[in-house]
Amino acid sequence: MKRLSRREALKIGALAGGSLLLPTLLPHRSFAKSGVSPKTKPFTLPFRVPPVLQPVKSNDTPGSNGAQNFTGTDYYIITHKPGMQEILPGYVSGVWGYNGIFPGPTIKVPEGRQTVIRHINQLPAGNPTVVHLHGMASLPQYDGYAEDYIPPGYYKDYYYPNDKARTIWYHDHALGKTALNVYRGLAGFYIVQNDLELNLELPKDKYDVPLFLHDKLFSANGSVIYDDLGETHLMGDVITVNGVAWPRMKVARRKYRFRILNGSISRSYRLALSTGEPLIVIGTDAGLRATPVPVKELKIGMAERYEVVIDFSHYKEGTQIVLQNRELPINIDYDDTNVVMRFDVDDSEDDGTLDPPLPGKLGDIEILQEKDAKRTREWRFHRNNGQWVINGKVWNKKRIDAKVNLGDIEIWKIYNNAGGWFHPIHVHLVDQQILDRNGKPPLAYERNCWKDTFYVGPNESLRIIAKYGPHKGKYMMHCHNTVHEDFDMMTQFEVGYGGLDPVATAPAQPIEKMYPF
Ligand code: C2O
Ligand code: CU
Repeated sequence: MKRLSRREALKIGALAGGSLLLPTLLPHRSFAKSGVSPKTKPFTLPFRVPPVLQPVKSNDTPGSNGAQNFTGTDYYIITHKPGMQEILPGYVSGVWGYNGIFPGPTIKVPEGRQTVIRHINQLPAGNPTVVHLHGMASLPQYDGYAEDYIPPGYYKDYYYPNDKARTIWYHDHALGKTALNVYRGLAGFYIVQNDLELNLELPKDKYDVPLFLHDKLFSANGSVIYDDLGETHLMGDVITVNGVAWPRMKVARRKYRFRILNGSISRSYRLALSTGEPLIVIGTDAGLRATPVPVKELKIGMAERYEVVIDFSHYKEGTQIVLQNRELPINIDYDDTNVVMRFDVDDSEDDGTLDPPLPGKLGDIEILQEKDAKRTREWRFHRNNGQWVINGKVWNKKRIDAKVNLGDIEIWKIYNNAGGWFHPIHVHLVDQQILDRNGKPPLAYERNCWKDTFYVGPNESLRIIAKYGPHKGKYMMHCHNTVHEDFDMMTQFEVGYGGLDPVATAPAQPIEKMYPF
């Protein structure tokens, strides 16, 4: 499958028809500050969370799979299909979603259990999908390699080890079509929890809430518009949270834990509360930090996750608190993109459970040492003749740009040489720590934690360190502005030798051959 050129993308949109089901694809044009979407008032629709998916089967037979010892396995089924939902108040929009909804259902797994997730593609012909579980150290054949397709009418079972508690997400990764497919709705939360975390006195259950941020553009009839402004970026004039435009959420007078994911195509956010109260950062891409860090504002690039605690306990009933989005370079701001959602303090939300003070310590974070690194590699993210490239090169599945020994610690230096752009860089398979940003120590909330995606601002450079493993094989690294990723800011590295081929090892099978779990 070759990548789509813009011309072909337009053609696909036209052929498939049904403007409610497919985003309309528009040629590059510029928008006024008021945007193009129908004018609706922020904070009109109630907040909602995506449903939690139940396994279709579970067994508790302890098993092993390579280095993993599982206490049992949970089996899930997810179908990729079109659906309709109210995103903008008063309008019905078509999406392509996991089980037909955007965001897809949330999967919640206890650490140490294996999951087998059967993904079935029931989308219209000509739309192969690829599923990547972003933040899981998956074997190469289950990592959503960009050319490991599930064609419509096919399915693939993905096996995941769930060996580390964290907030991650699953999303489409089809070569040259990731931005379009994620924008259509193929993305959802996946949460791994362990006892250590559950025993900490952190807000739980209804007070532990995922927030999926994503901006969109709509046409006058409410259908979704895809416009990447000439393969550069997609900047929506409507901010959605969990698939709802600027929702309002009733909150009790107590602490909440929010698991924030920037699931946007190209927009970064600088989050702050209208009251000036802090967001207390307790976790990031790869789970809880060592200690909570209060911040007045929080920058979050695409695919990054930050877990924050907000304390509503000292507000009066009826207080309205807005989660704001302040300006950042490169973003295109519209009239209402400076707000995300609103919290309305409401005592009826209080279920009477205790609200203990936050623990001062959340866990132990091992710090990787620079002196233990076997080598340093340099990666330049830039633009070449209108093309997005890494070290001057475009994606080529036959080329491997770094061969890393299994178990080696390496430092990767990331340069953003494209002045005028920012790139959130994602390295598959490994968790990383930031050594420095422009030669200076990283921000307080970027230290003493693990991450898999890194905001690299215009002309910034970053040094990150990781131990490469636990699996051998080929894995991708790319910019998570998925428009850049598609055209063509993506490369691959190989860990160890003789890893399983990501495409040939466990290819998708036709639905007729599907066996029951
Ligand atoms: Cu979230 Cu390679 O992607
Ligand atoms: Cu980029």
